[in-house]
Amino acid sequence: MTLMVLGADGYLGWPLVMRFAMKYDEPVVGIDNFSRRRRVWEMGSDSITPVQDMAVRTSVFKQITGREIKFEHGDMRDYEFVENLIKKYKPRAVVHFAEIPSAPYSMIDAKHAIETHENNVNGTLNLLFALKKFAPDCHLIKLGTMGEYGTPGIDIPEGSFEIDYRGRKATLPFPRQAGSFYHQTKVHDSNNIMLACKIWGIASTDIMQGVVYGTRTEETTLDPRLVTRFDVDESFGTAVNRFCAQSIINMPVTPYGKGGQTRGYLNIMDTMRCITTLVDKPPQKGEYRVVNQLTEVFSVLQIAQKVKDVGDKLGLNVKIESLQNPRVEAEEHYYNVDYKKLKDLGFTPSKTMDESITYMLFDLLPHKQRIIEHKEQITPKITWKDGLVK
Ligand SMILES: NC(=O)c1ccc[n+]([C@@H]2O[C@H](COP(=O)([O-])OP(=O)(O)OC[C@H]3O[C@@H](n4cnc5c(N)ncnc54)[C@H](O)[C@@H]3O)[C@@H](O)[C@H]2O)c1
Repeated sequence: MTLMVLGADGYLGWPLVMRFAMKYDEPVVGIDNFSRRRRVWEMGSDSITPVQDMAVRTSVFKQITGREIKFEHGDMRDYEFVENLIKKYKPRAVVHFAEIPSAPYSMIDAKHAIETHENNVNGTLNLLFALKKFAPDCHLIKLGTMGEYGTPGIDIPEGSFEIDYRGRKATLPFPRQAGSFYHQTKVHDSNNIMLACKIWGIASTDIMQGVVYGTRTEETTLDPRLVTRFDVDESFGTAVNRFCAQSIINMPVTPYGKGGQTRGYLNIMDTMRCITTLVDKPPQKGEYRVVNQLTEVFSVLQIAQKVKDVGDKLGLNVKIESLQNPRVEAEEHYYNVDYKKLKDLGFTPSKTMDESITYMLFDLLPHKQRIIEHKEQITPKITWKDGLVK
């Protein structure tokens, strides 16, 4: 049997193929079309950590560990490619990361919104049809996002909730309220996967993932050439990572608006551990299982303060400067989310954000010059109302 990672060149995909290769005695196959690299360049930026080509990555990994990662270059939008892939490997589990992961990118204009929809929704549909045909018992682990739920103002359950309506009770999918065209693609994916589980008996875990941060995993630290990418531009950099980069170059850390936007977060090492937990404990055939994947909940202002506290101790003299919010979102809201299922399956968090920020700053310091070179791309120019404002 084979384990497959779609999006194996990405921030999470590269560490995951290495983790799989170390943990399991089964063939590990990674797939990517390298579009993340191209899109970050399109934004005028680059990974702050200098990432190697896939051929170098896999051969260095093999030299150091003796373990093998197979790589197939291809595009999830191409049904023939996806079908041949699933037919060839008949995976036991496939982790689907291969989507465009950026809300701002999807809000630039019609072209970018449609590109994000075509890439994400069509890629997932191609995969579902190929699995049905050639690997109907495969466990599909799909990356959705906590952003699918939005900020509904009531407690957020894991996927579904019980409702009592006009005297009848039912368990129904919890309403999804996306806040960008990117988040909307994940909602469409969730609906398509739920349907495929119901009608074709596919077993799937749909992960509502919180915001991931961090610079290292067990395997990326084995050699500098195994590092994963780390982006700081407004589209592809996530909050904690961007704040750490800002503090390294004495640029003020910039929460948007009031900074009360509250979200779930987890360290990249814990992401790896969550996913291996899910691989080891698959759902039943035909089951559509939703897990909320996060370990801590913070407001953006709390994160800015954490980065300041750690940075100041290291002598970085960090300032916090709120920016006008380019997004349309609640800046203060109720947020109480369940995240129990992964713990029930055996996952225990290993890292807190407080301890992670210290080593993130240490890991980023050697790349200070690269952050300075891409400083302009950190500040937002894409607004939810007017798209890219030059
Ligand atoms: N990083 C986070 O904080 C976070 C939070 C919630 C959800 N997610 C989701 O997790 C997944 C992985 O996130 P990431 O940060 O590693 O993103 P990423 O962009 O670094 O990784 C995705 C990879 O998939 C590849 N890809 C995209 N479209 C493809 C296609 N059509 N065919 C083949 N390859 C394709 C890209 O080149 C990239 O290497 C994404 O689906 C993202 O939406 C990420």
